[in-house]
Amino acid sequence: MVIVIVVLTIFILVAGGIVVGVILYNRKPADDGDTAAGGAVAPAANASVVGGTAVSASVVGGAGSGGDTGSGSSGDDSGTGADSSDTGGGGSGSTQHIGVSPSVKLCTSSGTVNISDTIVVESGQTYDGKCQTIVPASSMGDGSQTEDQKPYFKLYPGGTIKNVILSSNGLDGIWFVSDTASKDDVWTLENVTWLDIGEDACSFRENAKDGTLNLIGCSMTKANDKSIQAGNSFGGTINLVDTRMFDNYQTFRVGVEPQTYKATNCELKGTNLIYGGAYQGPCNGVATFEFTNCKLGGGIHKLCDPATQVKYTNCEGP
Ligand SMILES: *[C@@H]1O[C@H](CO)[C@@H](O)[C@H](O)[C@H]1NC(C)=O
Ligand SMILES: *[C@@H]1O[C@H](CO)[C@@H](O)[C@H](O)[C@H]1NC(C)=O
Ligand SMILES: *[C@@H]1O[C@H](CO)[C@@H](O)[C@H](O)[C@H]1NC(C)=O
Repeated sequence: MVIVIVVLTIFILVAGGIVVGVILYNRKPADDGDTAAGGAVAPAANASVVGGTAVSASVVGGAGSGGDTGSGSSGDDSGTGADSSDTGGGGSGSTQHIGVSPSVKLCTSSGTVNISDTIVVESGQTYDGKCQTIVPASSMGDGSQTEDQKPYFKLYPGGTIKNVILSSNGLDGIWFVSDTASKDDVWTLENVTWLDIGEDACSFRENAKDGTLNLIGCSMTKANDKSIQAGNSFGGTINLVDTRMFDNYQTFRVGVEPQTYKATNCELKGTNLIYGGAYQGPCNGVATFEFTNCKLGGGIHKLCDPATQVKYTNCEGP
């Protein structure tokens, strides 16, 4: 009898312990994406997979890894995936902003400068417009699609234009020129705002056939046709950082040369994101695009093979 009672008591204690253990275990918050403690228990409870939204959480969270590893402690947590991904982004506390960083500001106009002819910026020179709006005389052009208008600027390699607002007249924008057609040619624009693009926002002229164009913290809007016109003679690299391009018919007008386009932390939305030159030859298979951490919008037309020519890393759209 005593033995039976002892055995029963042990049994009750053990069973009770298991029940309490199970209850306590199941009380563990299933929606805490950061703890990941229940990971070994139930494969079905992988909240980040079931919830389906963990991808966006990990993108928004940047380095945060909580959303990916968070798991529920039992099978009935499958509905809480969204909670898991909501909290997952906080994993490491760092957030990565997609598009132009909110800390990158454009000029607000500090006044106007009237010009009656193109401003030439030579190699090694920097033109600092101090955020004044440049207004051209009507003799320089009317900002329409006629081809014989003057540009606001002619920029030689090694030159920089910064802190400039181009008036809504637009003209023929900015010309990048070169005497040498060298791979080492570099043209730099920083903090340049096109209020309303005229014939083109910018184009490569004369011997500007290779090298690198850098656009940093710029804004180009309202092109009825092309914004960046790389034509059919430029075979270099166009590099955009922290730059916005909105409401343009052709954001990138691609030529038949082996052009490389790179955009990082940019917002590029227009009717056509890319307008290729395929109709000018058998197939335009040479231009390549790398979009990193960008917000994108618009169509991709007349490229030979967008799947191999265009690479997106951590972007939204197009
Ligand atoms: C849970 O999801 C993550 C991220 O998708 C994956 O790496 C991991 O293998 C999954 N774990 C289980 C147990 O399914
Ligand atoms: C620029 O031209 C406008 C119109 O012709 C004129 O009203 C204005 O005073 C000029 N500004 C400067 C700084 O000369
Ligand atoms: C552009 O100029 C404005 C006004 O000076 C300044 O606040 C801003 O930081 C500049 N942006 C860049 C990208 O240089």
